[in-house]
Amino acid sequence: MGVWVLRLGHRPFRDQRLTTHVALTARAFGAEGMILADRRDEALEREMERMGREWGGSFRVVSGRPWREVVEEWKREGGKVVHLTMYGRPLEEVLPRLPRDLLVVVGAEKVPGELFELADFNVAVGNQPHSEVAALAVFLDRLFGGEELRREFPGARRRIVPSERGKRVLELG
Ligand SMILES: C[S@@+](CC[C@H](N)C(=O)[O-])C[C@H]1O[C@@H](n2cnc3c(N)ncnc32)[C@H](O)[C@@H]1O
Repeated sequence: MGVWVLRLGHRPFRDQRLTTHVALTARAFGAEGMILADRRDEALEREMERMGREWGGSFRVVSGRPWREVVEEWKREGGKVVHLTMYGRPLEEVLPRLPRDLLVVVGAEKVPGELFELADFNVAVGNQPHSEVAALAVFLDRLFGGEELRREFPGARRRIVPSERGKRVLELG
């Protein structure tokens, strides 16, 4: 199972860029994939497939599945569900109890109240309102202890050569 992200409340057009950033952040910070709840978005699926061909890895995006069904199925299969919310318990407190088969749920505007009951953990990345992208990045980085930033993305066509200045990119074919 690994770590997957469930993105709730996506509003077409308005949230397009932010939802793409949730997917890019999930991929770059070590998640296996992202599920976009309730709405099909083939453009997002195609865009993330293109990213994968170019930059490697096996990150997957699935869209259009009802959120409750995803959460219930995940739990039936033995995984735990973390809901990121500013109203939750502090991340530092919950972190030691988290397994590595996790569904990490992030919202857009308001999330359904039922989610607070269905989630195994309601977790706050600080108790101030900010953004699903920020919350997800900090959460995944703490979960993986920073190791995710050193991960290889196999099969990439392009790889960055870290440099003091300028942009160095290896074209691998
Ligand atoms: C624009 S915020 C919505 C804020 C909303 N008032 C709420 O219920 O958290 C969108 C999403 O960002 C995430 N988020 C924002 N601030 C957070 C925080 N301090 N801790 C954890 N997640 C947060 C949550 O997943 C939330 O659904």
